[in-house]
Amino acid sequence: MPGGNETTRNATSRGVLALLERPDQVARFHAEGEAVLEPLVEELVRFTSPVIQFVRTATADTTVGGTTVRAGEMVVLWYPSANRDDAVFEQPDRLDIGRAPNEHVGFGHGVHFCLGANLARWELRAIFRALGRSGTLGRLQVAGEPRWLTDLHVGTIAEIAVQAA
Ligand code: HEM
Repeated sequence: MPGGNETTRNATSRGVLALLERPDQVARFHAEGEAVLEPLVEELVRFTSPVIQFVRTATADTTVGGTTVRAGEMVVLWYPSANRDDAVFEQPDRLDIGRAPNEHVGFGHGVHFCLGANLARWELRAIFRALGRSGTLGRLQVAGEPRWLTDLHVGTIAEIAVQAA
């Protein structure tokens, strides 16, 4: 099922990439461990925003951010854009594994909020807990540009070369 597979898989690979590119955040994770695990996972979901977009069809005329949307018109929700909104997040382009508050919309918002968000959070905590405890993130570094797949729905890394740090 793509909804529960591609999303968590890409949150993992893109989260690993984001951390390997920021040794200061890895050092903080190693120092604080379990105490920072929950905010780390939330921040990785915000920062990587694995789901790129969904479309909604307006059922009534409405105004969003000064723009009128008529009933029947389609609106694209760009989750990565909302998750980098500088009216909501301080220094949104910065990965801060202790970020609080972190009201991200990586799992969506409202009645269609991700049905698997709790499962995804448990999976991601288990994965990053294991990576943190084993010290793996501190022993690797990225060796070259990742290769991305072109996809307008879920941002996917096809390949990342890593080498011993
Ligand atoms: C990091 C992992 C995940 C991310 C980032 C993610 C993200 C999202 C997003 C953005 C939506 C749309 C919400 C909206 O339209 O407002 C969504 C919906 C949904 N997700 Fe996830 N998801 C993840 C993992 C999972 C998992 C593990 C499952 C199931 C095992 C799952 C099942 C669903 C389902 C069924 C919906 C549709 C809910 C509805 O329309 O009422 N997701 N997810």
